[in-house]
Amino acid sequence: MARIMSGVQPTGNLHIGNYLGALVNWVRMQQQFDAFYCIVDLHALTQRPEPLALQRAVREVAIGVLASGVDPERATLFVQSHVPQHSELGWILTCMTQLGDLNRMTQFKDKSAAQPENINAGLFTYPILQTADIVLYRADRVPVGEDQEQHLELARETVRRFNGIYGETFPEPQVVRSEAPRVMGLDGETKMSKSRNNEIGLFETADETMAKLRAAKTDPARLRKSDKGTPEVCNIFKYHGFFTGQAQRDEIAAGCRSATLGCVDCKKMLAANLEQVKGPIRERGAALRADPARLDEILAAGAAKARAEAEKTMALVRSRIGLRAP
Ligand code: TRP
Repeated sequence: MARIMSGVQPTGNLHIGNYLGALVNWVRMQQQFDAFYCIVDLHALTQRPEPLALQRAVREVAIGVLASGVDPERATLFVQSHVPQHSELGWILTCMTQLGDLNRMTQFKDKSAAQPENINAGLFTYPILQTADIVLYRADRVPVGEDQEQHLELARETVRRFNGIYGETFPEPQVVRSEAPRVMGLDGETKMSKSRNNEIGLFETADETMAKLRAAKTDPARLRKSDKGTPEVCNIFKYHGFFTGQAQRDEIAAGCRSATLGCVDCKKMLAANLEQVKGPIRERGAALRADPARLDEILAAGAAKARAEAEKTMALVRSRIGLRAP
């Protein structure tokens, strides 16, 4: 079975952008692949989170991943810092990566601009640790969004350099471009994100979601219910694209165009369909939150499995580069 590896940052609360963009894929791919899923708390340090907030975020993301349907019996779910080999290989690969290549990373520029008061070296070497995450498990494929493609290209470059110097050691990881949609926020202007405060939280109650939907923008040209709308330009209708079946969507589009269906009713239909997805996730999340020992167990078992795999790779790497006898 081919192996996949992917990581998620422990930041903020998960929202439906994370769900549609990554989690749905993770759940689907655990069927066909030997999957390693990692909560990257070491990467999160580049943003200097409060210690307690980091702890909480790691657990919340783990709960979100599990509640969405990742099965710890099938996939290996673990926390990056529980597997010290990530840091070890990260340093080794740092010595294999050229400054010129790192300098091209656009995410470094974006992130530096976002936190001008803390442009730490970890922000710069971030993609090297990401490379270590992947090659430590000798993963063939990496499902990521398009914003990570440049990092993956760098990872492949590093693998080629390492293999070229020390002999075939790592497979070159291929990007699996998720057909995941780019989910816009409730403002309809930017990508859904916690930091922009435009998100529909995965664990929100139906009432909380409906309150947000009520305030959300629709077709700007449709001011009154009697105005005819254009579903294609409406952000709410885009969400229907993810959560509503074709037949009901056709009905909604027709009702909007002919002004026989108002925006509030359209939003209520969306809220109901969202709840079909979020309701069971929220329940599973609550059960996991109520049983912290169970979560500890799952993460400990995942880390043990990941460490065993990682150590195999490191034994080979250490001998290849001369840190141990060949
Ligand atoms: N950088 C990725 C992101 O921000 C997270 C990540 C860390 C990752 N390590 C990884 C993704 C390894 C894929 C594989 O989304």
